[in-house]
Amino acid sequence: MGVASEMSAERKPVAYEDLRGWMAALKAAGELHEINGEVDWNIELGTIMRLAQGAGTGKALLFNNIKGYNTNDARCRRVFGNGLSSYRRLAMMLGLPPDTHPRELVKIGRNVLNGSIPPRIVKTGPVKENIVTGKDINLYDFPAPHWNRLDGGRYILTYGGIVTKDPTTNVMNVGIYRGMLASRDKIPILMWRAQHIGHHATAWQNGGSSEMPIAVAIGWEPTLGFLAGQPVTKGVCEYDVMGAVRGAPVDLVKCETVDLYVPATAEIVIEGYLDLDPATYTMEGPFAEFTGYLAGDRSPKPTIRVTAITHRNDPILRGSIEGSLPGSYSENAVCSSIMRAGTAWNVLERAGVPGITDVWCPPVHAGINLLVGMKQSYRGQAKQAANAIWGSSAAHVRYKHITVVDDDIDIHDYAAVDWAIAYRVNAGEDDIIIMPSTFGAGLDPSTRRRDRNPALFGTGKWNRVLIDATMNLDYDPDPDLDGARFPPMVWPEPDDREAAYARFAELGLTKPPRSP
Ligand SMILES: Cc1cc2nc3c(=O)[nH]c(=O)nc-3n(C[C@H](O)[C@H](O)[C@H](O)COP(=O)(O)O)c2cc1C
Repeated sequence: MGVASEMSAERKPVAYEDLRGWMAALKAAGELHEINGEVDWNIELGTIMRLAQGAGTGKALLFNNIKGYNTNDARCRRVFGNGLSSYRRLAMMLGLPPDTHPRELVKIGRNVLNGSIPPRIVKTGPVKENIVTGKDINLYDFPAPHWNRLDGGRYILTYGGIVTKDPTTNVMNVGIYRGMLASRDKIPILMWRAQHIGHHATAWQNGGSSEMPIAVAIGWEPTLGFLAGQPVTKGVCEYDVMGAVRGAPVDLVKCETVDLYVPATAEIVIEGYLDLDPATYTMEGPFAEFTGYLAGDRSPKPTIRVTAITHRNDPILRGSIEGSLPGSYSENAVCSSIMRAGTAWNVLERAGVPGITDVWCPPVHAGINLLVGMKQSYRGQAKQAANAIWGSSAAHVRYKHITVVDDDIDIHDYAAVDWAIAYRVNAGEDDIIIMPSTFGAGLDPSTRRRDRNPALFGTGKWNRVLIDATMNLDYDPDPDLDGARFPPMVWPEPDDREAAYARFAELGLTKPPRSP
């Protein structure tokens, strides 16, 4: 019995127009919770967000009353978060029924980054309702939370789309990179050279510039954060993919002080230059990272020098609590669980590994442990799958542990996977394979501190593991089992089951969940 259906749900793309349209849709669907009691931006707001989001169960949150920012003359009074920390809301963003199963979302996710509807340039839009320049710039006008007690400061950039462009092709990139308040007009950010923003920075430097124009769009439709946080192919502009996901072009306006474009209906746009001369770097970090640990050392980082802020009237600051933990799944984790699984599935397909029926990354770690379901037709197929994934660049910072199971195991059910590991794994028969000293994550504390220093090695160091929890086709077929290698499972035969279920009501019984 295969557990993954071949069918894939059909998308009806929705253009929500802006953050406010998205919030209205969430409210109508019962997916938004507004908090009107006064909440402190200092530790309290982040604590509430982390505890309220739950394991994919919490609602999106709008904080309407933030201490120190709740007067009528405040420039910004509200913070919105947890927009995409549930599969229901992810499905809504993609134009699918809210109860679409994550398995279907993975199948959609396999293709979603390939679409393209180019943006439209418009003259102006609500984001130009207020234009702040010169001495009036003060980033502290915005209620940037000090999200966690151990963070190095107040993080204003946690879910903004950072826009840069390649100086030779002029193609823009939109990515999420964390940014901390350093002063009224300075934001140091965590910029890895391997990310697309890093490629752009290198290209500007190679062209002789010591700074790079930059803009951050904060608060728009959910596709902004979703696609800025996912690995859209290098050279492809995220605005084109946003257009495809929402089924309509994104309307963009030109920035005031840099030659970059941002959504015309964004809540807030921060413009400026990223100084690339190390002498200008300012201190940033540490920060509660995606691993659920405090990570990313306090150190001097490239810094945005803000030249203008534009914003809507009564703007809403979009933020996100980063770091996924058992019982509290971040937006990054929920989105990545779908997209990292879809990416791995595509890698397997491109490599020609046959029989793949299902791929999943549970959101509690979002892609560090990968689960693969397969229909085996020859021995060694699970090892072929692991080699294909680890040999791909998609395995950077992902897929440290791969567990492969047969297609009768539901990889969305932890108990089913655990059962397969219990009774189909024999470490003495090469079912556990370690691939030592590969590239790995710079933020994973299970790697020794020295070995996860990207400055020394260019990447972290991971010893990767395959758990082959498939039935071992290296075993001889057993004549006593009609040539099968493993005995039959003791679920009653279908006819016996149906007959028993037919009597359940009469016997005062109800069918338990997850029974066949
Ligand atoms: C909430 C959140 C925070 C993130 N913070 C960072 C960060 O500080 N630095 C970084 O390099 N990537 C960060 N990422 C991951 C990148 O956004 C992601 O790798 C994305 O693909 C980068 O865009 P690019 O592919 O255009 O480079 C973050 C992602 C999310 C969703």
